Amino acid sequence: MKVGIVGSGDVGRALGTAFAATGHRVMLGTRNPRKKELKEWMAKTGPKAAVGTFADAAAFGDVVVIATLWSGTENAIKLADPKNLAGKTVIDVTNPLIFHENAPPTLALGFNDSAGEQVQRWLPKSKVVKAFNIVGNAHMFKPSFPGGPPDMFIAGNDAQAKATVTKILEEFGWPVTDLGGLEGARLMEPMCVLRVTYAMRKGTWDIAFKMLRK
Ligand SMILES: NC(=O)c1ccc[n+]([C@@H]2O[C@H](COP(=O)([O-])OP(=O)(O)OC[C@H]3O[C@@H](n4cnc5c(N)ncnc54)[C@H](OP(=O)(O)O)[C@@H]3O)[C@@H](O)[C@H]2O)c1
Repeated sequence: MKVGIVGSGDVGRALGTAFAATGHRVMLGTRNPRKKELKEWMAKTGPKAAVGTFADAAAFGDVVVIATLWSGTENAIKLADPKNLAGKTVIDVTNPLIFHENAPPTLALGFNDSAGEQVQRWLPKSKVVKAFNIVGNAHMFKPSFPGGPPDMFIAGNDAQAKATVTKILEEFGWPVTDLGGLEGARLMEPMCVLRVTYAMRKGTWDIAFKMLRK
C-alpha cells in the first residue's frame, strides 16, 4: 500500500517508520521538504520512505494520515488540497489541544464536536477514521507493556475505511475497539488530555489504555 502522511513531526515520522517497517511505501508531507531532520529520517528509514509537500503526500497515498499541530491543521489540509484526498481513507491522529505553561493542555473543542468531525467537514469527500491519537508516538508501533498490548479505539462513518485502518493497526500490534461513528472522536480526544495530565503528574510517558472485559 502507498501511505501519505500530512505532517512531519514526531507522530508523522514515527508512523512513517512503522509503515515502512511493515512493508508499505510512505511519503511524509511538510511545508519544507528540505529540512535536515527529514533528510535524516529518509536515510534512516530506507528506500520505502520519501518526503514531499503536503500535496505530494496527499496525492501519493492510497491511505493518508493527518498528523499536524491542531492550530495548523486547516491550513495543512488546504495545502494538501482536499481533491487529492477525495474518496480516500484518511486517518486523523490530531488532538485539538490548547497548550499552557506548566499545566496540561486543554481541548479547543469537544463535548458536542471533535477534531475528527472537523477534519471530516474539511474533507467531505474523504472517509475519515480517528485512530492513534490516544497514545504517545513512542508507543504507536508494536506497543509493549507488562499488562499485555493496550487497546486502540477507532471511530469513523465508513465501514470499509475502518476495516482498512483495523488491518493497519493489527499489523502495528494493536487490538482494536471500534466505537462506531466518527462522533466517537469526542470521547477519544479527551483521552489524550487524561494521558498527558497523568504523564505530567507522574513524570512517565510509558502509559497506554486497556479496556478490560469479561
Ligand atoms: N506527539 C505525540 O506523541 C502525539 C500523540 C498522539 C497524537 N498527537 C497529535 O498528532 C498531531 C501531530 O503531533 P506531533 O507531535 O507530530 O507534531 P506537531 O508539532 O503537533 O505537528 C507538526 C506538524 O504540523 C505542521 N504544522 C504546524 N503548523 C502548521 C501550519 N500553520 N500550517 C500547516 N502545517 C502546520 C508542521 O508542518 P511542517 O512539516 O511544515 O513543519 C508539522 O508537519 C497533533 O495534533 C498532536 O496533538 C501527538
